[in-house]
Amino acid sequence: MGPETPFEVPMALARRLTPDTRVVALTGSGMSAESGIPTFRDAQTGMWSRFRPEDLATPEAFARDPARVWQWYEHRRAGVRVAKPHAGHQALLELEWRVARLSIVTQNVDGLHQRSGSGRVIELHGNILRSVCSRSGREIDAEWIAASQDCPPPSPYMSGALARPNVVWFGESLPQQAFAQAVEELRNCDVCLAIGTSALVQPAASLPLIARDAGALLVEINPDKTPLSPLAGFCLHAPASLALPAILRAIKV
Ligand code: OAD
Repeated sequence: MGPETPFEVPMALARRLTPDTRVVALTGSGMSAESGIPTFRDAQTGMWSRFRPEDLATPEAFARDPARVWQWYEHRRAGVRVAKPHAGHQALLELEWRVARLSIVTQNVDGLHQRSGSGRVIELHGNILRSVCSRSGREIDAEWIAASQDCPPPSPYMSGALARPNVVWFGESLPQQAFAQAVEELRNCDVCLAIGTSALVQPAASLPLIARDAGALLVEINPDKTPLSPLAGFCLHAPASLALPAILRAIKV
């Protein structure tokens, strides 16, 4: 489907998005794909093609070879820094202005929703551009990281500790406060948009069902079918950059 292809949204869906509606947008890596950030399950390229993300994004990998893991994150951070929000991010921002409340609960670590101006963003998996001390978990200033020649930089707080990316790795638990906030938003929304997530990675995958079980309308936006598709009230099988602006157009008519 090319960028000029008109994409129509069912009017029955558009009618559910009124100035009284509370919306939660749950976003996964498919939301960032069109900003040039590959999804987690896409093949890695270049020198990283022989590694699987599942073998790098773990506490064990960092303990075994912190330099390799840090370098992989440097490579990913470089991609995030040049990435720009797309029309789908902008449409979510404009939807926020037209409904009673719109919160974004994201599994993405790239900060693109905040950069596009969205006001209420809950990050479930942290943020790749921030770093923390590997032992205490305390946040480390970006200036400290930039000034260091080491790979990874040492922690400023504890001798022997290192800086690590402020992201949730495989085998680690989600930040409790962010998860609790996300559950609260989902229990109290009228419409839940699940955008660009394969709905495979727990516990984030269970979140759309919390909204649905509480009576919300579940809408999936994904070019492909997922385990969520049969449970959704509407499935928009299109990329986020087409489907989200189409929703906005439909509620304006
Ligand atoms: P996945 O890589 O599992 O799934 C991405 C989904 O996006 C797939 O279902 C694609 O079909 C869909 N997709 C691709 N392009 C799209 C587009 N342009 N518009 C809309 N959808 C599109 O990503 P996540 O579900 O986000 O966790 O994976 C969740 C977590 O898996 C990640 O946060 C990461 C990984 O394990 C951790 O690092 C802890």
